Amino acid sequence: MDMGLQGRVVVVTGSARGIGKAAVTALAREGAKVVVTDIDSSAIDSTVSELRAEGAEAIGLVADVCDAQQVQSLGDRVKTEFGRLDILVNNAGFTRDKYLTKMADQEWDSVVNTILRGAYLMTKTALPMMMERKWGRVINISSRAHLGNPGQTNYAAAKAGLIGFTRSLALEQGKFNITANAIAPGFIETELVKALPTYERLRDAALARNPLPRLGSPEDIANAIVFLASDRAGYITGETLHVTGGRYSS
Ligand SMILES: NC(=O)c1ccc[n+]([C@@H]2O[C@H](COP(=O)([O-])OP(=O)(O)OC[C@H]3O[C@@H](n4cnc5c(N)ncnc54)[C@H](O)[C@@H]3O)[C@@H](O)[C@H]2O)c1
Repeated sequence: MDMGLQGRVVVVTGSARGIGKAAVTALAREGAKVVVTDIDSSAIDSTVSELRAEGAEAIGLVADVCDAQQVQSLGDRVKTEFGRLDILVNNAGFTRDKYLTKMADQEWDSVVNTILRGAYLMTKTALPMMMERKWGRVINISSRAHLGNPGQTNYAAAKAGLIGFTRSLALEQGKFNITANAIAPGFIETELVKALPTYERLRDAALARNPLPRLGSPEDIANAIVFLASDRAGYITGETLHVTGGRYSS
């Protein structure tokens, strides 16, 4: 099935590994030109090499999504290299779990900043390039945790905030034929999740209660990203797509 992604220019933040890497890989296989951006330069290099070995058009750029200057230079480089930007996936994010009474200010600030300030700065930089061509897709990677998780007040607040951001952006940008949607992944087996001290307990609980009795893979989320980025999703905006194997509330 042609998803209409041939030649589209895509930036996925935090795409050196995990869900972001699966996303750039899947989008490149659909013919998109991809920008791999992350704070981890050696992981960027190996992801870009893997993509190019598959014949993809890919470049790697180091940028911290919280840093306004780095985000601006990233936007400038994309404009110089490709002359356009069609699809932005705000994916960079991480957890710093603690009960609120034990949470350090830095754990709150770093999580909320990366997820919300990062999406704000990246989207603000990307939009003029999309508005110019009257076509665009912004896809924000939220989390099922937006519904609440003990130990994740910082992360859940940021991921719920990202959904409000998405809905408001959809209302503002529809007239430019730019859609904004969020994806709320469930338990997806990536480095971020495997590094959690509670990984085995969380995995067993997810396996026991998920209607689809398996953990999600980065490719499960990448498939949803490809769909929302494609021409097939042209009349969908302001939505949050849960990709959780059927798990919802807790
Ligand atoms: N894995 C899951 O179960 C799961 C579930 C729901 C949502 N998510 C979300 O999906 C996204 C990707 O998660 P993942 O599991 O692939 O994580 P991951 O840790 O494997 O990958 C995240 C990438 O983001 C990069 N990154 C971190 N801070 C950054 C910054 N300031 N600027 C640029 N890049 C930065 C990291 O270097 C890393 O390469 C995150 O937003 C996460 O919250 C993951």
